[in-house]
Amino acid sequence: MVNFNYCNPARIIFGKDTERELPGQIEKYGHKVLLHYGGGSIKKTGLYDKIVGILNEAGIPFVELGGVQPNPRLSLVYKGIELCRKEDVDFILAVGGGSTIDSAKAIAIGVPYDGDVWDFFDNKLVPHVTLPVASVLTIPAAGSESSDGSVITNDTLNLKHPASSEEMIPKFTIMNPENTFSLPPYQTACGATDIMAHLMERYFTTVGHVDVTDRLIEGTFRTMLYNTPKVLRNPNDYDARAEVMWAGTVAHNNLFQMGRIPDWGSHNIEHELSAIYDIAHGAGLAIVFPAWMKYVYKTDIKRFVQYAVRMFDVDLSFADDEEIALEGIRRLESFSKSIGMPTRLSDIGIGDERIDEMAEKAVMYGPLGNFKPLYKEDVAAILRLAL
Ligand code: NZQ
Ligand code: ZN
Repeated sequence: MVNFNYCNPARIIFGKDTERELPGQIEKYGHKVLLHYGGGSIKKTGLYDKIVGILNEAGIPFVELGGVQPNPRLSLVYKGIELCRKEDVDFILAVGGGSTIDSAKAIAIGVPYDGDVWDFFDNKLVPHVTLPVASVLTIPAAGSESSDGSVITNDTLNLKHPASSEEMIPKFTIMNPENTFSLPPYQTACGATDIMAHLMERYFTTVGHVDVTDRLIEGTFRTMLYNTPKVLRNPNDYDARAEVMWAGTVAHNNLFQMGRIPDWGSHNIEHELSAIYDIAHGAGLAIVFPAWMKYVYKTDIKRFVQYAVRMFDVDLSFADDEEIALEGIRRLESFSKSIGMPTRLSDIGIGDERIDEMAEKAVMYGPLGNFKPLYKEDVAAILRLAL
């Protein structure tokens, strides 16, 4: 295990009707709220009316900004910053998924900053001063509800970059599994894929003696293998939705990363895909991750054998370690297909035209990943394996 220093201050308020706790929590941090949301799903489900009713009843003033798109855009972040300054907003409540929460976090670091908020996403500065942010989560996926990061798409430059700092962790998150019943199957599956990818990015480490976190990751991964098909069969299965929702948070609140060096190569490659083709992050990961695995498994074949055996019960009677490792990768791909995810770029109509451009952009700040550092030619080779 490598040394670590762990603190995740995000309060998680979990269960039915927990939106009722909003006023008591908000009053700890601010006086005037920006209510930030996406393309309208919360209006269709009635969650918007419920939250507005709760804020009005408690006499909490708010202004609102909807319209966050999946792969949240910098242009809307600029609008949010302007609105918060004009209206003296001192607290941001994101109601939605990773895109809305990430957009809220970006607005929150932009308001107190005199320069261009993109500086934080362009590796120039680390944000330390921010308005407080909280969320009401509607899709278990990105883990942004308790993560220290935000990923924003610069819609002028076609770049999608992360920024992170401990100060960006939301103060609290309301997680009511009932708010996820309305998710369409595709979004459910994209979310599940992202959760499982967050687990795998941490699982594939070269650090030894990480048994506690190995076992936590394996248990959560297997929970996803079991419960994802259940929620797809019955979207209103509260218990299964609750398992997936909690899995999404623990997969990305960094607890499972402690003592380990995570990889993150697949995520960074996926960000290039969603920056250019505007695909869902989870769908991109279902394509990139197996290709990454096929490219790197020989770096530490024993870890891939452990993955195959412990995650997918691959039988040790396979001919040799290589066969076991490859069977683990095959089973991941068949699971992805079984939940309706693409596993090849060709499944979503993407060819090799822009592979070199994506590879070049992916390494603009240096090589990617830690399990096996990836240079431009490696990234291009992985994307070709994904064709
Ligand atoms: O916009 P609305 O109308 O709300 O619809 C959304 C959106 O179309 C819909 N949706 C969400 N909850 C719903 C619902 N539809 C019906 N019922 C509900 N209850 O789902 C669609 C996707 O929403 P989005 O917020 O984009 O999904 P997700 O949570 O997967 O977020 C993806 C973004 O998070 C970033 C990704 O790169 C991507 O941009 N990530 C953020 C991370 C972080 N901050 O720590 C880490 C992740 O690895 C990831 O990179
Ligand atoms: Zn992710």
